[in-house]
Amino acid sequence: MLTPIELPSHINTRPVDSAIAKRLRQMHQRIEAFQDCWNQHHAAQFVAADYELVYQTLTWLLEKHRPINRGFLEWGCGFATVACLADSLGLASYGVESHPDLIVQARQTLSDWPATVELFHGDFLPPGAEDLAFDLTLPSVGHSGENPYEIWGVDLEDFGLVYSYPWPGEDQFHEDVFDRYAANEAMLLMFIGPNEMRAWRKSSR
Ligand SMILES: C[S@@+](CC[C@H](N)C(=O)[O-])C[C@H]1O[C@@H](n2cnc3c(N)ncnc32)[C@H](O)[C@@H]1O
Repeated sequence: MLTPIELPSHINTRPVDSAIAKRLRQMHQRIEAFQDCWNQHHAAQFVAADYELVYQTLTWLLEKHRPINRGFLEWGCGFATVACLADSLGLASYGVESHPDLIVQARQTLSDWPATVELFHGDFLPPGAEDLAFDLTLPSVGHSGENPYEIWGVDLEDFGLVYSYPWPGEDQFHEDVFDRYAANEAMLLMFIGPNEMRAWRKSSR
């Protein structure tokens, strides 16, 4: 069962470290340039989150709700910005992305930052998770690619904190996948849209 963690309404007034703020400005510029070349790559599922808000929420969460371990996983990492933020906050960070052009961009982010993140080009859904989809046209479903968990030799259970930015209407699916496969007491953090983040902790039924 997932128990919501109440996020304070003033979370967006928390300070953002100046070096991080500078990095995020550079990320916004790179992402904008990538999106200006839209026709070249068709990475249609990629939309950037509000990374300042994600950082503010992440720092609050780490301060107030201790994760069960340092493992952090970004589902559908795009440019891996959030995975790099997690690394900068001392987490052992991993990211999975299915689009080949985006994984190239993610690798570029790691070398520019610089950050230590385990990146994987493949499908973040654990084997069998698609059974939970109430609609097989959900954007997270049907990605081909290798299974990162098998190659890394870890399970979703090994991550204390998972982050995702689901497309509208598939947040419940991400919750259900997390609820089935994550460790008890692990946390899920989601960027939902402008000014909206949600977080949960998994608890035993
Ligand atoms: C809305 S974007 C969010 C990107 C990034 N996490 C952020 O917060 O800015 C969702 C990303 O998830 C990727 N994605 C969707 N389903 C996936 C799957 N099953 N496995 C791996 N990547 C997936 C898409 O290609 C896209 O880059």
